[in-house]
Amino acid sequence: MAVASLLWTLFLFSIIFSLQSSSSSSSDTPITRFQQYLRFNTAHPNPNYTAPVSFLINQAQSIGLTAKTIEFVSGKPILLLTWLGSNPNLPSILFNSHLDSVPAESEKWIHPPFSAHKTNDGHIYARGAQDDKCIGVQYLESIRNLKSRGFVPLRTIHISYVPEEEIGGFDGMMEFAASSEFRDLNLGFAMDEGQANPGDEFRVFYADRIPWNLVIKAEGIPGHGAKLYDNSAMENLMKSVELISKFRESQFDFVKAGKAANSEVISVNPVYLKAGTPSTTGFVMNMQPSEAEAGYDLRLPPMADPDVMKKRIAEEWAPSIRNLTYTIIEKGKLRDHLGRPIMTPANDSNPWWSIFKQAVEATGGKLAKPEILASTTDSRFLRTLGIPVFGFSPMTNTPILLHDHNEFLKDTVFMKGIEVYESVISALSSFEGVSDQVI
Ligand SMILES: *[C@@H]1O[C@H](CO)[C@@H](O)[C@H](O)[C@H]1NC(C)=O
Ligand SMILES: *[C@@H]1O[C@H](CO)[C@@H](O)[C@H](O)[C@H]1NC(C)=O
Ligand SMILES: *[C@@H]1O[C@H](CO)[C@@H](O)[C@H](O)[C@H]1NC(C)=O
Ligand SMILES: [Zn+2]
Repeated sequence: MAVASLLWTLFLFSIIFSLQSSSSSSSDTPITRFQQYLRFNTAHPNPNYTAPVSFLINQAQSIGLTAKTIEFVSGKPILLLTWLGSNPNLPSILFNSHLDSVPAESEKWIHPPFSAHKTNDGHIYARGAQDDKCIGVQYLESIRNLKSRGFVPLRTIHISYVPEEEIGGFDGMMEFAASSEFRDLNLGFAMDEGQANPGDEFRVFYADRIPWNLVIKAEGIPGHGAKLYDNSAMENLMKSVELISKFRESQFDFVKAGKAANSEVISVNPVYLKAGTPSTTGFVMNMQPSEAEAGYDLRLPPMADPDVMKKRIAEEWAPSIRNLTYTIIEKGKLRDHLGRPIMTPANDSNPWWSIFKQAVEATGGKLAKPEILASTTDSRFLRTLGIPVFGFSPMTNTPILLHDHNEFLKDTVFMKGIEVYESVISALSSFEGVSDQVI
């Protein structure tokens, strides 16, 4: 009997426990709302934006923001939320994030990438947890808190959720930034995604490097594999490859010597080589081919001079005199409409910087030295228009896991981010100065 009653007690306990845990996991908190947003699979190659956009519209309505979707490309909506300021004539501020994410290889994750599983120590695992669904929800949660405290912004605040950032933003932010709807926002300042820091300072980014795709093609007289002769396609291409490798080393040396950060130099990395005469078993070995080709990924920081680079390519890397041709595909601009390098000053010459910095420090946080992002974000489309933008995702003491397996964010880090945005959003939206976009 004693055993039976003990089992009965355990059984009752287990029911009570499971009721409790299910009620706490279904309760509505900033963390559960973050988890809900993470469970929408918006990974490439086939992100479906319908459900997450509905979710965000519901969230926006529950806190009294107006919502509008704009579709420049079918199935790829841009969601724009607005909190009207008390002086809507002042330039507004924008908080941007992207809806999509890179794919995840489920079998290599310790928790399924779209489960948003939270461990006992508070790690929330999901593709997009760091990049960048965290900020998408933090913007909303901080506004929810500001509203509940009765805060009224002076400037109008917009929040945008854009598709397709991970594949270049061409059907997303690029279209939006070129639209009349965007011009009508009259933006004075914007914030976009940044990156995590394993250390205890917040990272902030004031520029992106701009990618160029460079393809160099060589043509020459073909010849027997045994023959020594000048100016074969392979020989001419190999000369280019050597010169480019030397340039790559000279840039890398600055990084290795600690004179520049990785993102402050011009990187040029070989990504493919194509040559040879195919045979049924591989390549014909006794033949020197008449064509050869090499592809490079170049990344240029904003202070690099695009004309100097083009001259170097034309005269040194791929001169026509060596029977080389080349194409450059520029994936963005290095100069704005006034010919200035595209970067947002991250010092006291820019009033938005001072306000932002003070707002972060007011929460006990510390900013790391402002950085150039090694890769790209949608910010480049805004900076090109002369709009100052900082890239910022408030994640300290967090390993950098964007695009990696087992991407996670800790609940306490997520919650701290909400506090930081409350401070940042209230400070920026209260800024009375600069009535136009000139900084
Ligand atoms: C996207 O998801 C919605 C439901 O969330 C569904 O109705 C729709 O058919 C889906 N679209 C595509 C193209 O799969
Ligand atoms: C370039 O091609 C021309 C025509 O085939 C050839 O005469 C010349 O030697 C080549 N020069 C080099 C440097 O490859
Ligand atoms: C601020 O930063 C800009 C751009 O990086 C630079 O040109 C300028 O000299 C800096 N101004 C001050 C006061 O440090
Ligand atoms: Zn991102």
